[in-house]
Amino acid sequence: MRTIEWIDDKNVVKMIDQRRLPHEVVWLDYYSAQEVAQAITTMVIRGAPAIGVAAAMGMALAALESKAESHAELMADLRIAHDVLYAARPTAVNLRWGIEQQLTLAQNLEHESLPQVRAALIAQSKRMADEDVLINQTMGAWGASLLPQKVNVLHHCNTGGLAAVDWGTALGVIRSAHVGGKDIHVWVDETRPRLQGARLTAWELMQWGVPMTLIADNAAGYYMLSGQVDAVLVGADRVAANGDAVNKIGTYKLAAVAKDNNIPFYVVAPTSTVDLRTATGAQIPIEQRDPREVTHPDNDPLGIAPMGVKVGNPAFDITPQRLITAIVTEYGVVYPPFDEGLRKVVEQAEIDRANGRVVNPAVVSG
Ligand code: MRU
Repeated sequence: MRTIEWIDDKNVVKMIDQRRLPHEVVWLDYYSAQEVAQAITTMVIRGAPAIGVAAAMGMALAALESKAESHAELMADLRIAHDVLYAARPTAVNLRWGIEQQLTLAQNLEHESLPQVRAALIAQSKRMADEDVLINQTMGAWGASLLPQKVNVLHHCNTGGLAAVDWGTALGVIRSAHVGGKDIHVWVDETRPRLQGARLTAWELMQWGVPMTLIADNAAGYYMLSGQVDAVLVGADRVAANGDAVNKIGTYKLAAVAKDNNIPFYVVAPTSTVDLRTATGAQIPIEQRDPREVTHPDNDPLGIAPMGVKVGNPAFDITPQRLITAIVTEYGVVYPPFDEGLRKVVEQAEIDRANGRVVNPAVVSG
């Protein structure tokens, strides 16, 4: 089951409404870039790779919606869609990546007819969805190779098929290890305030038959200190050029406790999540979300805090590269010093993409 799909006969984008899980599986239809941006902001669709593909499909919808009669007019409409989609959420760089891939393609097709440009944008967004699955499965293989035969891992947020198009990043590694016959058990952080761990990760792992235990976020330190965690696996919304990784709020605390207990801390992220234009994590914008997410968990109408209480709700935090053992990409495992290794994998990805390939596992493995 894919999180997001382009339906050809109707030119509609279908997404699973992740706000309704695990209680019901509901699919929603989107016909415009504006609607897709709204779906990203309200977290119908979420997770860095998934919103990258959603944004690319949003650009294709914008091209279809456009009444342009010349290439220049179409580009003007696509730039408007760019701004709308780009503003949907600030932190995950995959959003920018998905939009820019589409703008570049449209720009390069200056001498083609408008129907051809529109068709090419649709085709590229569908290809990006297919490639996302392949990339995740490749990262799954690299990441699983880091884990021992019997292993207890701790996982934060949701990085599964729901956060990507399918399979997942960190949860994809867990899935690959399980499918490959490893005896793997997962401590699933519930992930306050939006509970992506409790609602989405637990749902996915149970469907895949992976042994797991749901824990309150605050219990993670207890399990690490008592020797019940062999590795921590997380995804990322953006990895800076120096290896600092921005991910779901609470990730930094896990990395610090993992370091204190000599537990390897792995970040699993495709090259589309690596932002070489941003030097360190300090320059990455951190999304601040609605206080109600903290005071009214899971939309509980009564809430858990006194009315009018002052609330802070950063959606992400920065894990400094010094706390990260390795970053797993589709081009292999990158170890410190990260700056050189990350540049190598991103450059290779760009070369391969220009040649119509998305993974070449033979290229880099450390
Ligand atoms: O706010 P969310 O649910 O979109 O946050 C998602 C995460 O933080 C994930 O860990 C990240 O996108 C990497 S998942 C593939």
